[in-house]
Amino acid sequence: PDYTVTVKPGATGAAIPKSMYGVFFEDINYAADGGLYAELVRNRSFEFLPADNRSYTGLTGWTVNGTATTVNDDQRLNERNRTYLRLTGPAGITNSGYNTGLAVEKGERYDFSVWARADAGVPLKVSLHTTDGTALAAPITVTVKSDTWTKYTGTLRATATSDAARLSVQTAGTGTVRLDEISLFPQDTYKGRDNGLRRDLAEKVAALKPGFVRFPGGCLVNTGSHYPYDAANNYPRARSYQWKDTVGPVETRATNANFWGYNQSYGLGYYEYFQFSEDIGAMPLPVVPAMVVGCGQNRATDDEALLQKHIQDTLDLIEFANGPVTSTWGKLRAEMGHPKPFGLTHLGVGNEENLPEEYWAAFLKFEAAIKAKYPSITVISNSGPDDQGATFDNLWAKNRAHGSDMVDEHYYNSPSWFLQNNARYDSYDRNGPKVFLGEYASLDNKLFNSLAEAAYMTGLERNADVVKMASYAPLLANIDNVQWRPDMIWFDNDESWGSTSYLVQKLFMNNVGDRVVPSTATGNVLQPKPITGAIGLSTWRTAAVYDDVKVTRPDGTVLFSDDFNDGNADGWTPVQPRGTWTVTNNAYAQTDTASEDTMVKAATIGETDYDYTLKATKTA
Ligand code: AHR
Repeated sequence: PDYTVTVKPGATGAAIPKSMYGVFFEDINYAADGGLYAELVRNRSFEFLPADNRSYTGLTGWTVNGTATTVNDDQRLNERNRTYLRLTGPAGITNSGYNTGLAVEKGERYDFSVWARADAGVPLKVSLHTTDGTALAAPITVTVKSDTWTKYTGTLRATATSDAARLSVQTAGTGTVRLDEISLFPQDTYKGRDNGLRRDLAEKVAALKPGFVRFPGGCLVNTGSHYPYDAANNYPRARSYQWKDTVGPVETRATNANFWGYNQSYGLGYYEYFQFSEDIGAMPLPVVPAMVVGCGQNRATDDEALLQKHIQDTLDLIEFANGPVTSTWGKLRAEMGHPKPFGLTHLGVGNEENLPEEYWAAFLKFEAAIKAKYPSITVISNSGPDDQGATFDNLWAKNRAHGSDMVDEHYYNSPSWFLQNNARYDSYDRNGPKVFLGEYASLDNKLFNSLAEAAYMTGLERNADVVKMASYAPLLANIDNVQWRPDMIWFDNDESWGSTSYLVQKLFMNNVGDRVVPSTATGNVLQPKPITGAIGLSTWRTAAVYDDVKVTRPDGTVLFSDDFNDGNADGWTPVQPRGTWTVTNNAYAQTDTASEDTMVKAATIGETDYDYTLKATKTA
């Protein structure tokens, strides 16, 4: 009653683009393989290597009975799918899928396929069963007919439901058979697409009605080696995300280790991203590596020929998306099933580039080449790794002076930060580059975080003349394989559920306005009641030692302080623990050097504002 919102009569505010709110897809937290990509078999091409992850072998995901060996020789399926399995019968192999196993549902049909060759006709018995051998489908037999690599197929119909199934392939006689690319796919994919997406997850994303899909990452895009796949030179493992690795027949897509510590089959690749964007009515928004390795790896290339190759790859990507079927890459798109162009209009160059000078030099070359050939493409530049510090300021200054189309900002902050910074974009230059808020989230998955995000989004929308697109991040998390939290949608093998942030995003995306209605507000009812919040300490790819932590209220009084001299952690708890946090030598230390690691301490946040100051001595 004592709070008044006045809509300014006749005033017209900024138009709100339909693509204002979108999703950020990255293959983090097993979001692709074992997640959105509906393939049920893990390591289907036997390409896992210890070089990708110390725990991997060619048989990761498989158990064998009898004589079965992975082989990498000149009998291989193709140059990009190098290792195959040689079985000398009678012998068999069993795949355990992701997490608890393969998820199958009673009555549903599953397409089995395998590439195989054998000296003489060799029957393969294919079965779906529980860990104790109980059948989950009537087995089928496919017979390998010749010693030329050929794809054999069959269909299994599940007679019971399980989220822990096993797929076995067994030979009967004594002959030798070579197998590769063993696949089991539900027929019930999103929109029934071949090589398609897990329906419940795709439907949850579609239900958001996102304006755009940013893909394929994240740090996944621009970390690792920028050299292309090169079989002759022992192709670099952990390559940056190079889109050409991810198109064409799936059995020719070379697997790759990713930044988040696991392998990507690339079965979900650029064609599938474009198709999914189209299927859900969203604008496709790819991000290509800018040749500066970011995300804490901070390296730049001085190999100009390699840089030019990536620039050409980016031009080829635009041709793949938009070119006529008579063009080289448009033809591939048509061969893959989509003669019509995908209508690419926006493209990001780089992700969280920590080296502003090197990034900027590279960006200008990418942008010049793209604009020369495709002047109408919006080229999205970068503001560096976060919203503070020299890199951010430096890159924003360069983008402003240059007149970049749009700048990608990322930040992950506390809920109080989001509440305090609602006016962030009110002061942005109306004539400067537009903003793509490509990644943001309040740092937990609780209701309060989601409310803080919702409040913040009103500030984005009020500034729709500057902020043109925004995406919460990350989108998906497999509950058994979490590298990053919070996340918008969570899932296991056969279930998925949205966080409260998912509901907030859905609310905004399903109700995008046409334009801002300018208004003023007066009154005093928005005073928050005391709430319990959390104050956090976070490190990024470095071990750290904290001491003498002090949190003060706006008036300078101390909310709490910790010197850790009593040998206790004083209520600090990890929210995304990767390393070990312990009190050592009267200070608080954590050991993780591989990822981000955060400690929080619960605190009662005050009556009227959230403007607390946290100071901690970081001694290492
Ligand atoms: O969204 C998770 C990660 O956060 C992204 O990969 C990266 O861009 C950012 O640091």
